[in-house]
Amino acid sequence: MAHSVRAVVATKVKQPVQIMTIEVPDPGPGEALVRVQACGVCHTDLHYREGAINDEFPFLLGHEAAGIVEAVGEGVANVAPGDSVVLAWRAPCGTCRSCAKGKPWYCFASLNATQKMTLDGQALSPALGIGAFAEKTLVAAGQCVKISPSARPEAAGLIGCGVMAGLGAAMLTGNVQRGDSVAVFGCGGVGDAAIHGAKLAGASVVVAVDIDDRKLAWARDFGATHVVNSRTTDPVEAIRALTGGFGADVVIEAVGRPETMMQAFYARDHAGTMVQVGVPAPDMKVELPMIEFFGRGGALKPSWYGDCLPSRDFPMLIDLYQQGRLDLDRFVSETIPLDGVEEAFHRMERGEVLRSVVVF
Ligand SMILES: NC(=O)c1ccc[n+]([C@@H]2O[C@H](COP(=O)([O-])OP(=O)(O)OC[C@H]3O[C@@H](n4cnc5c(N)ncnc54)[C@H](O)[C@@H]3O)[C@@H](O)[C@H]2O)c1
Ligand SMILES: [Zn+2]
Ligand SMILES: [Zn+2]
Repeated sequence: MAHSVRAVVATKVKQPVQIMTIEVPDPGPGEALVRVQACGVCHTDLHYREGAINDEFPFLLGHEAAGIVEAVGEGVANVAPGDSVVLAWRAPCGTCRSCAKGKPWYCFASLNATQKMTLDGQALSPALGIGAFAEKTLVAAGQCVKISPSARPEAAGLIGCGVMAGLGAAMLTGNVQRGDSVAVFGCGGVGDAAIHGAKLAGASVVVAVDIDDRKLAWARDFGATHVVNSRTTDPVEAIRALTGGFGADVVIEAVGRPETMMQAFYARDHAGTMVQVGVPAPDMKVELPMIEFFGRGGALKPSWYGDCLPSRDFPMLIDLYQQGRLDLDRFVSETIPLDGVEEAFHRMERGEVLRSVVVF
């Protein structure tokens, strides 16, 4: 039996999203049907609507979600109906060349539902293989990570994407150590999570860079020790001045633009690490003198989903949240109804929110 549910769909490039009734199949083998409780609005949803990811419209948006498993298909053992879960866009296959090498966080064949959710008979493309701006969604069971039922869903769901990406960029990809100096470019949900991750890892100096003073004030709340508005101050000079003239040990780019990538590159200390977590548009380019790449040493590391392993990392982060050490609630700027997503995109573009979260 298919389930008719209300959902947020982007039907055409750069057009406002709409609430439509979609059909969600019952779970088949290896799949889970999830009743969504909460789903955050991430910049990546807007990238889909803008046609910046691919042109496989119509998109079923939403991918930072927590919910309750309603039904599972044949052969599913990791979750059962009634379980509280956070949805992950990485569900390692266990057999690809990366999984086989023991690096499942790079899995090249991550699992998604095999059956399609549909709109008037047409297959929908679920954002990041999830599609959770919907009352119910169908995913691969491996995308469901069981968490404590006592965690607040609107906060817990955020570890499903942006918060994990930022925390992981600092703690896993950047491998921030106690006493390190860290700089973060872009203080949206992802950048602030990187700042919070640097603090959790024990960084001594955490410099936040943004072009919006309101974002910089919030960055301080997440643990930034210094803030730089790069509209008025050269961020590379400022970061060097705050690090004994050298540059930061780890610099994280969480904007996804050529100018911030170059600033992040030059804001590193020698042998330092630059982590790129912001997603660039396909046509963006940087020009880099080879001698600077070679001469500065260190590492330039893209970070997909913070190099996380959801089954390992999500329950650990929920523990930190429930112990009061990870402030997930601070990322929730507002809760909105399902038909508030288009307006939430505008508020995100105006810099008024970190995360608007749809509650069902
Ligand atoms: N790599 C991943 O796995 C992953 C996962 C989730 C999101 N992302 C990406 O991370 C990026 C950030 O996402 P978000 O949800 O935090 O977005 P956001 O829009 O909330 O935040 C972006 C921030 O960058 C700031 N900014 C813009 N231009 C700037 C500039 N020139 N210099 C400094 N700051 C500038 C903005 O003021 C804003 O605070 C996006 O590109 C998103 O697609 C990547
Ligand atoms: Zn794999
Ligand atoms: Zn996201």
